[in-house]
Amino acid sequence: MAADRLKILAISGSARQASTNAAMLHVFQQMAPSGIVMDLLPPVNLLPVFSPDTEGENTPPEIEALLAAIDESDGLIFASPEYVRAIPGGLKNLIDWLVSRDAIIDKPIAIAHASHRGDDMLDSLRTVLATVSASFSSEIFVRFALMAKTPDEISQILRQPENSAKIEAFLSAFKAHCVSISNSR
Ligand SMILES: Cc1cc2nc3c(=O)[nH]c(=O)nc-3n(C[C@H](O)[C@H](O)[C@H](O)COP(=O)(O)O)c2cc1C
Repeated sequence: MAADRLKILAISGSARQASTNAAMLHVFQQMAPSGIVMDLLPPVNLLPVFSPDTEGENTPPEIEALLAAIDESDGLIFASPEYVRAIPGGLKNLIDWLVSRDAIIDKPIAIAHASHRGDDMLDSLRTVLATVSASFSSEIFVRFALMAKTPDEISQILRQPENSAKIEAFLSAFKAHCVSISNSR
């Protein structure tokens, strides 16, 4: 990790173009304090479906690119809708691709959430992320009630002073977590 620059990869679990989770992460990217650079992963539903038969030398190029992006990042932030009381298939598929790879094992991870609902999905996502990474933090968490809002509305809501303060506190806490993990290696 570069001493003065934290590189975060943000992953939305939504399959929707006008996703509230993706729009929220986009605002985080724009509002990130100095010293934090955020990239947003392309939509997870574009990835091939996982099979143990297509690992190793048969790994699809999109998955190699995903693994490289995760490897180059200092930490991951996930934000996801709940689909049928669970993690959306596209996001679970992405995590399945990571489970036997070194890129994820000790990667710092936190969750942000764009809805007042979806707690079954959150419980499951916490269990899954704690399983794939020893450095997942369930304490570092932020949540906004943005369900059914447009990206423009989300941008306005999150720029209100009390919300931008929550975002800054979340990103700063995550940065401190990433630095602490990096220093302990
Ligand atoms: C297929 C499908 C299943 C859903 N199932 C649930 C659910 O079980 N519980 C819930 O609270 N919302 C459910 N929703 C609503 C979404 O979680 C909610 O609209 C969310 O804010 C969408 O996030 P997005 O804007 O990032 O796509 C479902 C939506 C879809 C499309």
